[in-house]
Amino acid sequence: MCGIFCLLSLSPTRCVWDKTLHEHLRRRGPDLSQDLTVGGTDPCYQCLFSAHVLHLRGLLTPQPVRDDTGNVLLWNGEIFGGLPVMPGENDTAVLSERLSSCDGPSEILSVLSAIRGPWGFVYYQKAGDYLWFGRDFLGRRSLLWKFDAEANALTLTSVAARRSGPGPAQSAWREVPAAGVYRIDLKAVTQAGSVTFELYPWARGGSGLVSSCSPTVLESVPSGCTAVMNQSGLALASPVRPLNTSIPKSLNEEEIHPNSHSHVEHLERLLASQEKNDAVNRLIGVLSEAVRRRVQSLPFEALDNSPPSNEVAGVAILFSGGIDSMILAALADRHIPAHQPIDLLNVAFKLQVPKKQKESAKKSGKPKNKPTDSQSDGDDPQTSGPFDVPDRFTGKAGLKELQDLNPERRWNFVEINVTKEELQKIRQERICHLVHPLDTVLDDSIGCAVWFAARGTGFIMEDGDQRPFTSSAKVVLTGIGADEQLAGYSRHRVRFTMSGHEGLIQELEMELDRIPSRNLGRDDRVIGDHGKEARFPYLDEDVVSHLNSLPVWEKADLSLPRGLGEKLLLRLTATQLGLGQSAVLPKRAMQFGSRIAKMEAHHEKASDQCTRLLTE
Ligand SMILES: *[C@@H]1O[C@H](CO)[C@@H](O)[C@H](O)[C@H]1NC(C)=O
Ligand SMILES: *[C@@H]1O[C@H](CO)[C@@H](O)[C@H](O)[C@H]1NC(C)=O
Ligand SMILES: *[C@@H]1O[C@H](CO)[C@@H](O)[C@H](O)[C@H]1NC(C)=O
Ligand SMILES: *[C@@H]1O[C@H](CO)[C@@H](O)[C@H](O)[C@H]1NC(C)=O
Repeated sequence: MCGIFCLLSLSPTRCVWDKTLHEHLRRRGPDLSQDLTVGGTDPCYQCLFSAHVLHLRGLLTPQPVRDDTGNVLLWNGEIFGGLPVMPGENDTAVLSERLSSCDGPSEILSVLSAIRGPWGFVYYQKAGDYLWFGRDFLGRRSLLWKFDAEANALTLTSVAARRSGPGPAQSAWREVPAAGVYRIDLKAVTQAGSVTFELYPWARGGSGLVSSCSPTVLESVPSGCTAVMNQSGLALASPVRPLNTSIPKSLNEEEIHPNSHSHVEHLERLLASQEKNDAVNRLIGVLSEAVRRRVQSLPFEALDNSPPSNEVAGVAILFSGGIDSMILAALADRHIPAHQPIDLLNVAFKLQVPKKQKESAKKSGKPKNKPTDSQSDGDDPQTSGPFDVPDRFTGKAGLKELQDLNPERRWNFVEINVTKEELQKIRQERICHLVHPLDTVLDDSIGCAVWFAARGTGFIMEDGDQRPFTSSAKVVLTGIGADEQLAGYSRHRVRFTMSGHEGLIQELEMELDRIPSRNLGRDDRVIGDHGKEARFPYLDEDVVSHLNSLPVWEKADLSLPRGLGEKLLLRLTATQLGLGQSAVLPKRAMQFGSRIAKMEAHHEKASDQCTRLLTE
């Protein structure tokens, strides 16, 4: 993961750039920072490139990379496949070479289409004066843009900064939509005196040739700029198969009596069928490979060329003990040598017990809106500690399952306890800038929870004692994408009940389309702030393709009860991998599981604008 930044200035005066941004970018790429300016007087433009490298593989490759021709590449990505990158080679150098040898746009697009892995990039193509930029198909890396009309300058950056002070409600920063790659014809824009982006779109799910930019793209274009769809028909080939939209002909042939068995027994019975067993093994195959690609070739060279250490984990997992993170841990266990620890990052926000609520809870027995989990919710502060939030309970239970699965491994269960004071301080100092330009209550909750989890500073138990611990793993796996693809959210159940399989398929299709703008850019910015790299195995191209190819009823069966029907295929997978109760935990969103949503005790909707993100 790197911090990349490009300032395109169309006026002859040299632009100065915001040093706050520089600081934020440096935190993403602490290993090496370098600037480079290109441009001239005819046509009159200037591009300032600033790159901040987090070193992960091969020899450290300084960025910006300028080739012999004078092309410049800023690369914030990982090539996990598609273009050959030999062990010890750096993907930045490989990509720069490939792009150098490209002649026209179609060749550039075909190189970018071939890449498997997350990316955001900026590329200055000297011949013809073009500036290219964009994000991968799923938007797994952040890229923001802003146009300053007064200075006549466009900024592209991995991370921005909230302006302090009240200011206009609408900030100028927007996320660059992961709709394709964009090209600026620098000669043309200097003549026209205004910036036009030409979009080469991702060919999405067989929708054929699109002739104009989608409303999402048009809304996100910085004011003062224009976006046009390239009319030549050139597009990036989608790296994933389209979603299988078939509808079952008849309802389930099997008779289901889920109540006569425990959920775990039910899963075991289903697995007894050869067909189900094969289906589960196919998923384990692709998912395991996705995890392998993400936990191997780690930055051991970065640790003073010392060999892989037996003391320090190279990989950490955002860990609630829920099924998504349990499966990642069980699969990581297969690919990381047994003598190396794995860090499990478990975040909890201090329970707030306002007096009023305490009393009313006593009277009514249970607070309302309590999730209908069979699991203890740890709500009662009399009998449990202030950090005994739901995810702490499931985390500890999950740890136990993993220890049984592989007793030789050191599993570092990192208990990250966050107080309200610390939350408020760090939110103002850092997190509000990272979440920006997203701004809802949900963005705030998840952004804060992920930031503290990814920092990895907490306590581990060692020989019965707590000791302070900070995870130094540079790679952080997260389970995002499982719920969106396998119908894990309660809204999927609502949709299914209301409009059957058709409705459910539409919902799933829509969710995968919006996951870049909803989650991924934000999570990348938040995790990257620790000089760590977020990796998303459930959003590996092969995993998405595989899941997309399956009919929806194989992924979920929402006629079954909660804790069983949603993400059914994943629950079967967990059982097959030897996991126990974690396979049948109902979904608990991170903001509730970590109790951050409760901490603020405001009556607000997740989609409301969050006033706490405004800087003072
Ligand atoms: C990595 O990149 C640097 C700079 O581009 C280059 O000098 C070096 O040879 C590359 N290393 C490998 C192993 O390809
Ligand atoms: C579309 O792309 C082609 C190939 O790069 C280029 O020749 C043409 O000018 C572009 N058209 C528009 C409208 O930008
Ligand atoms: C963190 O929270 C857990 C659970 O409430 C508690 O057992 C532990 O003592 C706490 N650790 C610290 C250092 O506060
Ligand atoms: C969708 O799933 C059905 C049922 O398994 C299968 O017959 C069909 O070939 C799949 N379609 C695609 C496009 O993969």
